[in-house]
Amino acid sequence: PSVALWGGRFTGGPSPELAALSQSTHFDWKLASYDITGSKAHAKVLHAAGLLTDIELEEMTAALDRLAADVASGEFLPVLGDEDVHTALERGLIERAGTELGGKLRAGRSRNDQIATLVRMYLRDQARVIGAQVLDLVDELITQAMAAGEAPMPGRTHLQHAQPVLLAHHLLAHAWPLLRDVDRFLDWDVRAARSPYGSGALAGSSLGLDPAAVAADLGFDGPVENSIDGTASRDVVAEFAFVAAMIGVDLSRFAEEIILWNTKEFGFVTLDDAWSTGSSIMPQKKNPDIAELARGKAGRVIGDLTGLLTTLKGLPLAYNRDLQEDKEPVFDQVATLTVLLPAFSGMVRTLVFDTARLAELAPQGFSLATDIAEWLVKQGVPFRVAHEVAGACVRECEARGIELWDLSDADLAKISEHLTPEVRTVLSVDGSLASRDAVGGTAPVRVAEQIEAAKERSAEF
Ligand code: ARG
Repeated sequence: PSVALWGGRFTGGPSPELAALSQSTHFDWKLASYDITGSKAHAKVLHAAGLLTDIELEEMTAALDRLAADVASGEFLPVLGDEDVHTALERGLIERAGTELGGKLRAGRSRNDQIATLVRMYLRDQARVIGAQVLDLVDELITQAMAAGEAPMPGRTHLQHAQPVLLAHHLLAHAWPLLRDVDRFLDWDVRAARSPYGSGALAGSSLGLDPAAVAADLGFDGPVENSIDGTASRDVVAEFAFVAAMIGVDLSRFAEEIILWNTKEFGFVTLDDAWSTGSSIMPQKKNPDIAELARGKAGRVIGDLTGLLTTLKGLPLAYNRDLQEDKEPVFDQVATLTVLLPAFSGMVRTLVFDTARLAELAPQGFSLATDIAEWLVKQGVPFRVAHEVAGACVRECEARGIELWDLSDADLAKISEHLTPEVRTVLSVDGSLASRDAVGGTAPVRVAEQIEAAKERSAEF
């Protein structure tokens, strides 16, 4: 039979309706193994404070180990009436260690400092799992960038042809934000690495327990500085949720491009059969479902962050039961991203680019007009004038339905005396690409360096 942890001052048990509302084991059971690890650390500080004998510590630890094994095997599960993971595990401990010893573990701790600690332990582990998956995707992007070599593509702004860029350059433009996301998790971990254990309900413990010892035992850098903050704040959870949402958004922006590139009209890329889906009615269809699900799930993980922030807004210090709502959003983000990322990586690994089409389209839409303007600047023409002249070239071509390189020497001279036939040297995709050779630019030499830099960055984590 399950017992509430707070029976003493109550004349009866909770109403069934309250119990149903209050129960959280259907989601917080995920934290059971962390709770047991925390309990073992807590038993040690109770012992160090003289509140458990040597024998009691040994028996308590053995009982907790048995409980952990039963939780792992699924033999021990929460039952109806266990309010939360802590309640269920206390029942499990008492069943294994007896009421006398099992009842001693709760001294000097509260579910408030327990849950705040467990969430951090869980999220720190998950940040590593997700970070590794993000790095797998980064590696796929780097591999594709290397395979793309010096293949050009039309670079766009406002979704309009802007300037030619290397396909590799564009692919790496998706890798860098993802590398920063991993960096964000690392940086977040510095703040997450403080243990609320020992904060008690809010005011700290009076039993001479050492929060620093528990913190070290649980892999934290140290205890929190303030017990109220330790039990009441969830910015560490919210910051995790932001990074997770940002990963969702970064995937979604890439996904949107893949969806566009995969249309008949763009025709930039073909998806592998194993990483796309068909239609139940239209036999010809091959759909980019992974990319669409990524785009859709981005909305979901943003919602998780938004919901959490909304829960926190307006909460007075210290612990309020509202804080129980912090877990499902991040659990959902973790479940979503850990399934999405491997599928996304597989899709990226098997993308096949139509480099001939990309090369053909790269100079179209007058995407070399900037090169004319910049060539003129190098001849000493003020940029304002150069911009006008290049614009006049575009206007002429548009009126006659030709491309910039179709203008004759006479056409050029008529537009501006500065437009000598030498301007043709920049009227090629290769010339345009090679000219953008400052750090971070799309020139092949720079992109080759960039690939090495991305590899190094990825290997640093
Ligand atoms: N289950 C709660 C949570 O997830 C922890 C329990 C705190 N309950 C309480 N009455 N103080 O936040």
